[in-house]
Amino acid sequence: MVYEMKFFADTASVKKIAELKTINLVNGVTTNPSLILKEGKDFHKIAREICSLVSGPVSLEVSSTSIKEMRVEANKLIEISDNVVVKLPLTWDGLKLCRELSDKGIKVNMTLCFTLNQALLAAKAGSHFVSPFVGRLDDSNIDGIELIKKIRITYDNYQFNTKILAASIRSQEHIERCALVGADAITAPPEILHVMADHPLTEKGLAKFLEDWAKSNQKI
Ligand code: E4P
Repeated sequence: MVYEMKFFADTASVKKIAELKTINLVNGVTTNPSLILKEGKDFHKIAREICSLVSGPVSLEVSSTSIKEMRVEANKLIEISDNVVVKLPLTWDGLKLCRELSDKGIKVNMTLCFTLNQALLAAKAGSHFVSPFVGRLDDSNIDGIELIKKIRITYDNYQFNTKILAASIRSQEHIERCALVGADAITAPPEILHVMADHPLTEKGLAKFLEDWAKSNQKI
């Protein structure tokens, strides 16, 4: 099956999402409680604005840990918009609720995934996305990209449909390596998506072209 690599914006900033949309870099959005806090605005307002701006999946995260409380929150989240994906922590209760919601056709993103075993459980529970945290693994001196690679191989071995949404992306190199090992999607902060376009030789080359064009005294 041919599947285009998807780019998600890892932010709750409506302004930044709108800007990235102009070059097709918002196939979806992921948010989390820390990103909501950073915006300092009402959660429901932000969520509604993002969901109306983006047609792809928008992950909104629960903010409790027991299955009972998470179920109540998940039901409120899916009321916000049709494109809401319920983001659940990769815990035992999270997995139970994931199975329950998936059986009802509700899309789930199992977040805070740090091992292949956790990714296997997410797939068994029917999760639509699994989010392995590349940068946070690197912070603990474990190669985050290796985890993406292991999940890719394993999901392909058994034809699991769960999509690998590489998260906690901190650099251009992370994005390149995720693409090379076959992540289905990456979710990155807008600032990292921006620097993907940067290279010193591009800047140097452009400066020289502009200089020579000015000398030519011509106009387009
Ligand atoms: C993923 O869905 C999370 O929102 C995010 O990628 C976490 O990234 P961080 O480790 O840079 O906070």
